[in-house]
Amino acid sequence: MYGLNGRKAIVTGAAHGIGRAIAARLLAEGCDVGIFDLDLAAAQVAAEELGKDGGKVVVAAGDVSSKADVEEGIGSLMAELGPVDILVNNAGICKVGKLLEASEADWHATFGINVDGFFYVTRKVAPQMVARGSGSIVNLASWMGKSGVAAYGAYCASKFAIVGLTQSLAMELGEHGIRVNAVGPGLIVETKMRDESELKRAAEGLPTAQDRAKSIPLRRAGLPSDIAKTVAFLASDEADYITGETISVTGGIWND
Ligand SMILES: NC(=O)c1ccc[n+]([C@@H]2O[C@H](COP(=O)([O-])OP(=O)(O)OC[C@H]3O[C@@H](n4cnc5c(N)ncnc54)[C@H](O)[C@@H]3O)[C@@H](O)[C@H]2O)c1
Repeated sequence: MYGLNGRKAIVTGAAHGIGRAIAARLLAEGCDVGIFDLDLAAAQVAAEELGKDGGKVVVAAGDVSSKADVEEGIGSLMAELGPVDILVNNAGICKVGKLLEASEADWHATFGINVDGFFYVTRKVAPQMVARGSGSIVNLASWMGKSGVAAYGAYCASKFAIVGLTQSLAMELGEHGIRVNAVGPGLIVETKMRDESELKRAAEGLPTAQDRAKSIPLRRAGLPSDIAKTVAFLASDEADYITGETISVTGGIWND
């Protein structure tokens, strides 16, 4: 464990998948957690289930790509939690499609949620951290934020943006005692995004997650908990001399 007792954390997109596992881990570490998600019903279920073992969980519904939603929803979480120590920018979508064939709607949705979402949420939460002279921000990038991949151009570009923004923000906020890092997950199963992506890949005759996992050096797909423990580490004082990094959590590198 990383000694996060008493810290206040906001996790976007924590109704499902990786975000939910991050919220669970931060609660287990002793944090109070605010969940901001588009899917209110699932967020409420997550909050109820995760709160059973103790710890405060509060929920706000909204779309990270809407400045008005962020102002209201993240604002209400900040009011309920008190000063926020940890922000996890996790909400994201992945649209599969070759660049010359993908719809403009998918392109704009990808950037709206994955990049504008980071922009709005961070600009809402970080000023309070600056005023207090402490805080830790962890962003969800991807292994596709370090390598271009066919049929994932918009997603790759949005995650390269997150890697760059993590570096820029780390340089801007370091002097205020705030660290900014990212995690680059690999092939993570047991998430809604993975299930949707698998359906599309199957329709195109592409290898399944199970097949691809065979070529991962550690010989298994990743789990949301693999990402959650890395986020907890980066958020903690154990990582107090790490900033601007995007840590790959992929089980190694694979070729397809
Ligand atoms: N699953 C993977 O293999 C994988 C790999 C690399 C990176 N990632 C990244 O990890 C993060 C979480 O992915 P996941 O696999 O858990 O996905 P997921 O689809 O299971 O969960 C995403 C969550 O974000 C919420 N969300 C979606 N759009 C939103 C919006 N506009 N506003 C607020 N909430 C919104 C969803 O309701 C959901 O709860 C994403 O940023 C994703 O890009 C995932």
